[in-house]
Amino acid sequence: MILSAQNICKAYQDSHRTITVLDGANLQVQAGELVSITGQSGCGKSTLLHILGLLDDSDSGTIEIGGVQVNSRHPDAPFIRNSKIGFVFQFHYLVEDLTAMENVALPLLIAGKKISTSMDEAKAILGKLGLQERITHFPNQLSGGEQQRVAFARALANKPSIVLADEPTGNLDPANSLELWKLMRQLNQDLGQTFVVVTHDRELAKLADKSYELVQGKLNPL
Ligand SMILES: Nc1ncnc2c1ncn2[C@@H]1O[C@H](COP(=O)(O)OP(=O)(O)OP(=O)(O)O)[C@@H](O)[C@H]1O
Ligand SMILES: [Mg+2]
Repeated sequence: MILSAQNICKAYQDSHRTITVLDGANLQVQAGELVSITGQSGCGKSTLLHILGLLDDSDSGTIEIGGVQVNSRHPDAPFIRNSKIGFVFQFHYLVEDLTAMENVALPLLIAGKKISTSMDEAKAILGKLGLQERITHFPNQLSGGEQQRVAFARALANKPSIVLADEPTGNLDPANSLELWKLMRQLNQDLGQTFVVVTHDRELAKLADKSYELVQGKLNPL
């Protein structure tokens, strides 16, 4: 099991009440699987994905990555986040002062690759996402969907074994959404990468190997 979440609970406290978001969510992901998660807005999908990606902690329950129990404060968490997990944020957080290519190359440079290699690899991934004509554009010169694809490329740059993607097709038209899903499937088959994808699109969700719906804090198979 490459990724496992057991009995994940998470509540937020506001001034006068407790909002229970996750209430015993369980998820088992095998290496090389493509898994989708759907659910109503506000049901806790991003919260769950952040916990799975060691960006946030649950109140109780356990996360195992590659069979090792971890959380965001585990001494290996920074290493796991950098080397094993690619995270596609719902709101893409591109660096505004860097071009599309530089944004994608950033994780490669941080990992110690040469500048020329990093830029070449960044260009190649952006090309796969149909952005070869946009590599020197800054984020504010890209459409919302283009920015989202750059963020997706950045998450894939280090070829992470697990990709956690929060609404990666949220700003894309149906044709580009389908292309992105095909690319995920292709990478999943070619590189054996594991994908956990949050989506509002039930039709796309059904293209996954396993689909879950987050309802009242629990993941139910669809
Ligand atoms: N830091 C926080 N403090 C308090 N409440 C929060 C916090 N973060 C999220 N919430 C609440 O927790 C619930 C789940 O939020 P989350 O972002 O996980 O939902 P989501 O399923 O990803 O929604 P969407 O589909 O709209 O992206 C929401 O009701 C939200 O208002
Ligand atoms: Mg969300």
